[in-house]
Amino acid sequence: MKLLTPIILMIIAIPEGINYDESKVPDYTLPDSLTLGDGMKVTDATTWLKHRRPEILRLFEENVYGKMPGRLKETVFEVISTDSEALGGSAERKEVSVYFTGKKDGPKMDILIYLPKGIERPTPVFVGLNFYGNHSINPDPGIMLSKQWMREDESLGIKNNMATEKSRGVSASRWAIERILARGYGLATIYYGDLDPDFHDGFQNGVHPLFYKEGQTQPKPDEWGAIGAWAWGLSRAMDYFETDDDIDHKRVAVIGHSRLGKTALWAGAQDERFALVISNNSGCGGAALSRRRFGETVKRINTSFPHWFCANFKRFNDREDELPVDQHMLIALIAPRPVYIASAAEDLWADPRGEFLSAKGADPVYRLLGTDGLDAEEMPKVNQPVMSTVGYHIRPGKHDVTEYDWERFMDFADLHLK
Ligand code: GCU
Repeated sequence: MKLLTPIILMIIAIPEGINYDESKVPDYTLPDSLTLGDGMKVTDATTWLKHRRPEILRLFEENVYGKMPGRLKETVFEVISTDSEALGGSAERKEVSVYFTGKKDGPKMDILIYLPKGIERPTPVFVGLNFYGNHSINPDPGIMLSKQWMREDESLGIKNNMATEKSRGVSASRWAIERILARGYGLATIYYGDLDPDFHDGFQNGVHPLFYKEGQTQPKPDEWGAIGAWAWGLSRAMDYFETDDDIDHKRVAVIGHSRLGKTALWAGAQDERFALVISNNSGCGGAALSRRRFGETVKRINTSFPHWFCANFKRFNDREDELPVDQHMLIALIAPRPVYIASAAEDLWADPRGEFLSAKGADPVYRLLGTDGLDAEEMPKVNQPVMSTVGYHIRPGKHDVTEYDWERFMDFADLHLK
């Protein structure tokens, strides 16, 4: 009985059509990152960089995340607050509004930045989107309270889709700010809803409409969805970093958890200005291989979240083997820049093994480009981080970002950015 109860519970908890049994993972063949569309093998770095990389990037744009536009030349940055004595005097805080069309009443995003004091400038920074507003990442009363639409959650102080004073610091456990600053890094974050509120409204709110052509009312089947818009915002933050003398824009690590981990990978894959990329528990459409169909599947994600990917991605519902790419190729697009993939042992929905195998699948490209790739033959046990140019860890516990995760991300950044 003792043994049976958890088994029964697991059976009840597994959504229909979802596999959590490793022995039921179907046979599959991954597309080869190092074979061009015309069948030619890629055997040197130049061919990868000039031909195969752009080809794979295009395949991801057309079939998975959609094409995204560049920056608008009208965009204006405005520093809206500064405090040189934030967090008990240990940090400098600033908030920067990015007015995409240059108009203050037009769409904008707000970047919250903490920089360590008493450390040589410019500072390397981590940048990542957050789920519940900049004010949620720390109780610091100086952070502007977001006025954007937010997913309803009374336990997080969100009422009628609006944040309240009670929302301050509700996500603090996921943002180890004190440790980040103590280890000599800055942190920049943006509320993802500033780019596109996370519900399907046919792409009327958020940044998509800024780019509609005459008569266009929604993105084309090969144009960006919400993940594309979120990733676009990260690149716009990078545009700002390039103008800020306190931030070392050559040492920016882009990081994200879960759907925002998918976003960090896509941002880092496209925008080579990001020096390092970190995916935490990003799962399906992130680091996990789609062809394994373990945990969340392509069909399931496209059904629950029809606005995340480009419309073309839905063609691959239940047809993963027909995808011209798999997620190991997304990681390969980041090469030779360091990338770190983090899994959590209980986060089966995100397929930890599939995340590891994807990192492993990117290894040949990293090696072709002269790095040590992923220095692990087998999936490591929990708490045994792999710190090669492709880094990986799995920790015990649930879908979350913990202090353990952050310490490993910083160990990795110390190796590659310092
Ligand atoms: C859901 C979704 C995942 C996603 C996660 C999150 O679980 O199915 O794909 O990563 O939400 O963003 O928290």
